[in-house]
Amino acid sequence: MALRNTNDSFGSLTKFLHWTVAGFFIVSYCSAYYAIWFTVDGMVANDIAVQIHITSGILVSFFILVRVYWRLTNSLPVPPPGTPQEHFAARLSHRTLYVFMVAMPITGYLGTYRDADYLGVTNFGDTRLFAWIAATIDTTWEEWEVAFDYVHRTILGSKLLWILLLIHIGAALFHHFHRRDGTLERMLPGGRS
Ligand code: HEM
Ligand code: HEM
Repeated sequence: MALRNTNDSFGSLTKFLHWTVAGFFIVSYCSAYYAIWFTVDGMVANDIAVQIHITSGILVSFFILVRVYWRLTNSLPVPPPGTPQEHFAARLSHRTLYVFMVAMPITGYLGTYRDADYLGVTNFGDTRLFAWIAATIDTTWEEWEVAFDYVHRTILGSKLLWILLLIHIGAALFHHFHRRDGTLERMLPGGRS
């Protein structure tokens, strides 16, 4: 199987990155909702779930960087048959997914007091960059954290990202079961269109 994308199919590296990132997103969602629904602050289970969330969020950033680079340096396979509006919607939703892939780890990191020292990552509130920003725009860590936490959890994580992922997965299943046009196959390991 080719490493790079071809006209008929995604290459093996794109497939690997797509499913690895999807796996990390599932871990991120499960750990965040486990912490929120089944635990409260101070419980050991809460700490563990949030640490799993933060670890998967930080680890996935590395794969996302590689993925953005690989996307920018690779052409895409020819899109499956469809109207210009469908092609436009697919392009728009894929680009928006890329924006979310970058925004989720960044807003998560910028908006939490939970430390990630065990990963060698300094809490943003303890960095010189934050000290400089705080002095420049006259803010405190508490105000800053609340704003980014709100964007990460309330706007993106619990609403917009859900909507986008449901549309994305719904479209993949629609192509697979209704159109039967090989759209899902060409993203599956070993699959071709
Ligand atoms: C793939 C990346 C990530 C995704 C998809 C993601 C998604 C989410 C979601 C869905 C929630 C729950 C939203 C709600 O309140 O309903 C959440 C909460 C949270 N996220 Fe993330 N996140 C990611 C990365 C990160 C990173 C890198 C950090 C920190 C370094 C982080 C820190 C947090 C914290 C502290 C919470 C609150 C957990 C709690 O209330 O117990 N996230 N995230
Ligand atoms: C069960 C979950 C998922 C399924 C079934 C799925 C399915 C697919 C399929 C079939 C394609 C190819 C579309 C085409 O040929 O036009 C695709 C592309 C894509 N998917 Fe997913 N996907 C899933 C999860 C995710 C997640 C969690 C993300 C990101 C957070 C994501 C981001 C993307 C992006 C950005 C593309 C465009 C191709 C690229 O440039 O890499 N997908 N997906």
